[in-house]
Amino acid sequence: MEKVVLAFSGGLDTSVCIKLLEEEYDKKVITACVDVGQPEDEITRPAKLSTEMGLEHYTIDAKEEFAREFIFRAIKANAVYEGYPLSTALARPLIAIKIVELAEKVGATAIAHGCTGKGNDQFRFESIIRSYSDSDVIAPIRDLNLTRSEEIAYAKSHGIPLPSDKLYSIDENLWGRSIEGDILEDPMVETPEKAFSWTCSTEDAPDKPEIIEISFEEGVPTEINGELMGPLDIIQECNKVAGMHGIGRIDIMEDRIIGLKSRENYETPGACLLIAAHRALEQLVLTREEIKFSEIVSLTYSELVYNGLWHEPLRDDLDQLIDNMQGRVCGNVRLKLHKGSIRILGRKSPFSLYQEEAVSFEDKEMDQREIAGMVKNYGIQAACYQDVCRRK
Ligand code: ARG
Repeated sequence: MEKVVLAFSGGLDTSVCIKLLEEEYDKKVITACVDVGQPEDEITRPAKLSTEMGLEHYTIDAKEEFAREFIFRAIKANAVYEGYPLSTALARPLIAIKIVELAEKVGATAIAHGCTGKGNDQFRFESIIRSYSDSDVIAPIRDLNLTRSEEIAYAKSHGIPLPSDKLYSIDENLWGRSIEGDILEDPMVETPEKAFSWTCSTEDAPDKPEIIEISFEEGVPTEINGELMGPLDIIQECNKVAGMHGIGRIDIMEDRIIGLKSRENYETPGACLLIAAHRALEQLVLTREEIKFSEIVSLTYSELVYNGLWHEPLRDDLDQLIDNMQGRVCGNVRLKLHKGSIRILGRKSPFSLYQEEAVSFEDKEMDQREIAGMVKNYGIQAACYQDVCRRK
């Protein structure tokens, strides 16, 4: 029997996939769960379920790599899509790469995933799998056009344990948590408080603000309040602190790859904090031209990632440009966190382009009279245009 490696989360879709792969596709199923910072039970549950079903299961810890190679790049690029810091989209390529490596190791001829045919993840997984391996790709839920209730019925009739009390479809990794489905599909329905788990509501956030100082080296965070920390610890700490102050709840109408709009809720406290701090530092050290251009770079970068094109050479080209610019993004940013808001209190950098003396009202060194000529012809095209309009 040919082997298939299934990316297994322990959720409804992928649990149903196990039986479908055996019964409908006649495969020997090997399951794998790539740890990109899901909650503990989302790592242990699939392992347990799989073993109970007598399957071979692999847990692959990719947290450190995810933080260093993906999240840190996202910080340098200020990777935000339609207003939300990319999280699910950022982890998918790494998960796919790890599954490809495993499939090769165990001699599987196919790779399976539990994505439906409506979402983005099918694009993100399959584009990577097809680029890095010759394996067949099987997407049972999409192939059989199954609805959620059909899946539940199938699970019940095949003795597949249903994940308990999961009302919403949730995807969680180190960089963020996305919540969709059920009553949230009505964009007029307010997201219930119980849907959130990383962030506190503004009402319940502490009355007392908290001040935090983040240091950056070459565009990535290295210290919190003067304490040197590794990527994983920094990300986790920022999630904790910002989440406690009600930062990082995002409710948007998102445009999916296939064109459908969907209502999405995100909790990305650490990402919101770190990107805000990073941007504040960039304002100090990058030139006007660089800042303007990085807005475009950031937009394109984020679209590539969202659209599942992590392996597109342009992403790599942009990363090289970004790395070059980020060389000077070093320094400290002090921020105040209070009831859902982030305020920049201060920033400093050895590469600062700010000239305090020159901009000062007390400075005489920079002779104001020399600027008069520059001002005189400023906006000359607009002036000509207004003149033409008057004469018409
Ligand atoms: N719509 C988001 C994205 O494509 C998140 C989807 C994650 N899946 C989920 N079941 N919540 O990035």
